[in-house]
Amino acid sequence: MSVSHLFSPLTLRSVTLQNRIMISPMQQYMAEKDGLARQFHFQHYGRQAIGGGGTVMTEALAVLPDGRVTWHDLGIWNDAQVDGMARIAGLIAEAGAVPATQLIHAGRKGSVGRPWEGYDPLRDDDAAKGFPPYRTVAASAIPANPGWHTPDALDADGIARLIDAYHLAAKRAAKAGFRFLEIHAAHGYLIHTFLSPLANKRDDDWGGDLKGRMRLAIAIAEAVRAGWPNDLPLSVRISSVDDQAGGWAIEDSIALARALKSVGVDLVDCSSGGLGERTTTRMVRREEGYQVPFAARVRKEADIATIAVGLITTPAFAESVIRDGRADLIAIGREALLNPHWPLHAAQALGVDPTFSEWPPAWGWWLEKRSRAARATSTGN
Ligand SMILES: Cc1cc2nc3c(=O)[nH]c(=O)nc-3n(C[C@H](O)[C@H](O)[C@H](O)COP(=O)(O)O)c2cc1C
Repeated sequence: MSVSHLFSPLTLRSVTLQNRIMISPMQQYMAEKDGLARQFHFQHYGRQAIGGGGTVMTEALAVLPDGRVTWHDLGIWNDAQVDGMARIAGLIAEAGAVPATQLIHAGRKGSVGRPWEGYDPLRDDDAAKGFPPYRTVAASAIPANPGWHTPDALDADGIARLIDAYHLAAKRAAKAGFRFLEIHAAHGYLIHTFLSPLANKRDDDWGGDLKGRMRLAIAIAEAVRAGWPNDLPLSVRISSVDDQAGGWAIEDSIALARALKSVGVDLVDCSSGGLGERTTTRMVRREEGYQVPFAARVRKEADIATIAVGLITTPAFAESVIRDGRADLIAIGREALLNPHWPLHAAQALGVDPTFSEWPPAWGWWLEKRSRAARATSTGN
């Protein structure tokens, strides 16, 4: 058996992940208007849970009803939503992975249709189908893309309600049995609009210089930390760079990571872009591991654990990211939709599990027997 860095455990506060692979949060947009988990979600997360990742992070859960991207998002804004999420946390834990979840307020990227239905802002004809447009909010009244809804700039009361909603959502996530929590502060959603100088044009204490623009992210991290058990890890997903001229830069991410660490955040999950998806200039080329350099810089310069994500699809590359100290965890997104057993296959490819011992025994026993028989046939034994 080979020694692998990817398949070494990682302990965060009181939680130990059996390996360094996280199934990345991926919104499914498959809830009804009540934001409750249903059969599709149980099947989807059961499928991911059994794949061998050290932690499976569910899709982003809306902290308020108007914090949804679409009418079909899962939510955690009320107590009735806890039971369904508890079932998901339970089936992830049952498979041996750490159950993780993520909290979101969509901000100015809310009130849109589902990606496969056009991903356009909702209009009157959607109202006729039962999915009316809803109010969106942001740091400033600037739409995410030309023709999208113009958000209301959040006022002081709205900010206070938002921070409280995150606090309550963190408590509900703990009640549901999740053991790792992430705040979604990336991809152009509400918190990101406060961080980025391109989206935040406020002249009060919640805008202006970097300190003012970081204030909401820090306040939410503090509120979440206060509602989330002290022995459980907390991460924040950021867009490490806006990838637009004059936007948020990697140096800003390093400053933010230091500030987040000082309020009890344990990891920074380093994504990028998304501020206004359709206007992004894409200076960052989308190639294998294109965001890994961000995770590496934040890890080194802010001295905090990081998660690397984005086009990590081969076991050898994933292994090198951990081995070279560029991140503490790697996240697999779309590849896990294609192949939910990616972590189990990676363990075989890296020589960590030649005998299918990491697989559920009801499958692994047969697969090991079959592979032994195939080897015997090929060597004539
Ligand atoms: C269907 C889908 C839904 C996503 N939903 C979320 C989400 O809820 N929260 C989040 O932080 N990122 C979300 N993302 C981004 C992924 O977590 C990941 O960062 C991105 O897909 C890049 O990684 P990959 O190349 O491994 O897919 C989503 C991506 C996809 C494809």
